[in-house]
Amino acid sequence: MPTKVSVTNLSIAFGATQALEGVSLTVSDGEFVSIVGPSGCGKSTMLNVIAKLLPPTDGSTRVAGVEGNGASAAKVGYMFQKDTLLPWATTLDNVYLPMDVQGVRDSRKAGALIDMVGLTGFEGHFPRQLSGGMRKRVQLARLLAQDPDVLLMDEPFGALDAQTRLIIQEEFLKIWERSRKTVLFVTHDLQEAIALSDRVVLISARPGRVKAVYRVDLARPRHVEEAMAHPRFMALFQEIWASLKQEVLASREKPQ
Ligand SMILES: Nc1ncnc2c1ncn2[C@@H]1O[C@H](COP(=O)(O)OP(=O)(O)OP(=O)(O)O)[C@@H](O)[C@H]1O
Ligand SMILES: [Mg+2]
Repeated sequence: MPTKVSVTNLSIAFGATQALEGVSLTVSDGEFVSIVGPSGCGKSTMLNVIAKLLPPTDGSTRVAGVEGNGASAAKVGYMFQKDTLLPWATTLDNVYLPMDVQGVRDSRKAGALIDMVGLTGFEGHFPRQLSGGMRKRVQLARLLAQDPDVLLMDEPFGALDAQTRLIIQEEFLKIWERSRKTVLFVTHDLQEAIALSDRVVLISARPGRVKAVYRVDLARPRHVEEAMAHPRFMALFQEIWASLKQEVLASREKPQ
């Protein structure tokens, strides 16, 4: 498979804070790659650079072979860690937004996406009338409405309650397995990373470096609950967690 996203020797410093150092990573077309690492190791920063919202201090990133601002031409969809809904627009209008930008408003598709995220009946609600988890689900519907080639997702399900999260993971996996978009997915939930991904990239405590990359050799199409019950899943979880735990502990010893 051709490379869709590449990060080459990327370093980012904010003043005296070295966020990322010498990070290299490639994501193939149609591949689902998760990034895990302790809080503050530079995961969001890396997505911001790939999305061209932040210039690298050193190194480079490419999306679909295009360096620099051409990345937007490759239709990159970014689901930010923070809430980015338009406060003055309803659920439905927030989902319509990327369609309007593309000039193709599809009410059936918008309805199907709102249903997928479990918000049927809330189409006319404004973000302030929704819970944090509901707002995240509108963001997910809006991302999928954009139908990008490359999805950058920063803890998309982190604010959801555990039950909703399982259901959304399942639905999202189904959608992804039909479309096989390239996904770079940041999460704190190692189980989620393993259940959804083809590979899991472990970033070290700051300065963030690629500590290890794990291939998830669980068959596709996958069912989240079945995958989590698989002996191979458990083995991977233990192996990755042993290494991730060291980084989480190391990051707790350092001030931000
Ligand atoms: N705009 C900025 N100005 C100064 N420092 C920043 C800025 N953005 C990020 N940082 C610092 O860079 C480091 C990495 O931040 P980043 O948000 O990428 O971490 P993260 O891995 O996404 O963490 P989390 O898991 O908590 O979301 C942190 O030490 C943070 O304080
Ligand atoms: Mg982050």
